[in-house]
Amino acid sequence: MLGAPNRVSRYLGPMPAPPFVERLNEQIGHEFAAHQQYVAIAVHYEAETLPRLASFFYAQALEERNHALMMVRFLLDQGIDPTIPGVDAPESAFEDVVAPVALGLAQERRVTNQINELAGIARQHQDYTSEQFMQWFIKEQTEEIATMSPKPVWGAVTPGISGSTPASSRYWTIISAWLRSSSAWA
Ligand SMILES: [Fe+2]
Ligand SMILES: [Fe+2]
Repeated sequence: MLGAPNRVSRYLGPMPAPPFVERLNEQIGHEFAAHQQYVAIAVHYEAETLPRLASFFYAQALEERNHALMMVRFLLDQGIDPTIPGVDAPESAFEDVVAPVALGLAQERRVTNQINELAGIARQHQDYTSEQFMQWFIKEQTEEIATMSPKPVWGAVTPGISGSTPASSRYWTIISAWLRSSSAWA
């Protein structure tokens, strides 16, 4: 049962704050939902014969699964049995080649707010172990938003040549090159 001490908890010290446990268990669902969404985006790009974008999103999906399992592991290590939440079906139909990346960015912004709230709940309950656990995710979200953001050099880089381009902009370079070479945008 969620929040119930498990077999190892009798050997441990202070337990995580119950409100934090409840929200972290919900977050496990959000991370798995992000995993499903990125798999759906990867499959969409494969169907559009854009394999580099597909493999980028397969890799992102794997990261989300790992985030979920890190949260599961934290709860288990704290002597609490997590429950694995169900997730809603992801978006799988997209208007154009950019829409999935925009959806990904919106998702990362939403998750960033959720992560910050989790850190806030932990601090509010003086649960510093949980607060420290969340610090990794705060840093991770900064990277994830940068990865999914179009801000670097939209259209300013020679297509196919990454050079000194930061990794985060390469996928946007791919997209902008695709748009410029597409007759629909000529
Ligand atoms: Fe995540
Ligand atoms: Fe993410």
